[in-house]
Amino acid sequence: MTEATSSTSAFAPRVFSGIQPSGNLTLGNYLGALRRFAKVQDTGVETIYCIVDMHAITVWQDPGKLTRATRELAAAYLACGLDPARSILFNQSQVPGHAQLAWIFNCVARLGWMNRMTQFKDKAGKNSENASLGLYAYPALMAADILLYHATHVPVGEDQKQHVELTRDVAAKFNHDFGLEFFPSPEPVIEGAATRVMSLRDGTKKMSKSDPSDMSRINLTDDADAIAQKIRKARTDPEPLPSDLEGLKDRAEARNLVNIYAALADTTPEAVIAEHAGQPFSAFKPALADLAVAHLGPITARMTEYLGDPAEIDRILGAGADRAHAIAAPILDRTYDIVGMIRSR
Ligand code: AMP
Ligand code: TRP
Repeated sequence: MTEATSSTSAFAPRVFSGIQPSGNLTLGNYLGALRRFAKVQDTGVETIYCIVDMHAITVWQDPGKLTRATRELAAAYLACGLDPARSILFNQSQVPGHAQLAWIFNCVARLGWMNRMTQFKDKAGKNSENASLGLYAYPALMAADILLYHATHVPVGEDQKQHVELTRDVAAKFNHDFGLEFFPSPEPVIEGAATRVMSLRDGTKKMSKSDPSDMSRINLTDDADAIAQKIRKARTDPEPLPSDLEGLKDRAEARNLVNIYAALADTTPEAVIAEHAGQPFSAFKPALADLAVAHLGPITARMTEYLGDPAEIDRILGAGADRAHAIAAPILDRTYDIVGMIRSR
């Protein structure tokens, strides 16, 4: 994790991050988020991880599927090494402070800031008139998620950097408007070889749970055969692997497979190239498939085990929500007080 800068140093280090329970967790979610979250916890810093069900409903979610996806994501967090005794794990809607602070931030954030958000443009598509108001206000809720706990560091994938920057703008404007240093300026933490895992069908597109082609992604629930088949069929070019990273320039698909290999093996793309230089993809792909299966197999098995006991998952989420609420409540009270709202009970 990066060092806290002067803007956050008055605040104790606290890590917050969230993932939407929208189903189909991918290798991108695993390498870009879940695995890193567990590693951060292991450094001993205070960690709060949230399943952001309120963000999920900014686009339509079938209620039964939302419940299932929430438990599935909780199981994935646990299977990836998250320890509910050391980290706080909960679903967002169980802590009302997120919605409460989000309203205040809706009144701090400016329309001009929202209009610059690339994720809204991507998700709303051409028919933005028909997008929900929640989808537009999404980044203000995300700012509330982070600042409700005075979090200082936010591990995310590359695609979320703009939202964390908006969170900093919200904190700065709130502090400026009310004339005090109440909210920290949280740092996005984007590191590792796999901050942007790309589609297996198109090296210029992010691997995504919403891609219509299942062959474009590896799901955390895929079995060994499916993983091997998807890697075997992954798009590549006819050239063998080059002898240095420079040789991967303009070879987006090849670069992506090397990055995935490096991330799974916990090494650097340079080291992978050094080891596999000159190999054709007919040799590299089976090696990558073996590595992916060896790595993901035990996680999938643990996930299935956790999902066999949904009551236990719900208990963990409830206990996490209680702990989260205990941290959030005094920060929210103080926020209302700063804004000038009466709290008389
Ligand atoms: P999402 O699935 O978009 O809700 O993302 C949840 C988390 O996974 C965020 O921290 C993302 O940045 C991360 N993430 C999602 N897709 C990828 C990807 N293809 N590569 C790296 N990180 C990703
Ligand atoms: N917007 C994030 C995503 O789609 C999820 C998210 C919501 C989040 N609130 C957050 C991430 C707070 C980090 C911190 O991936």
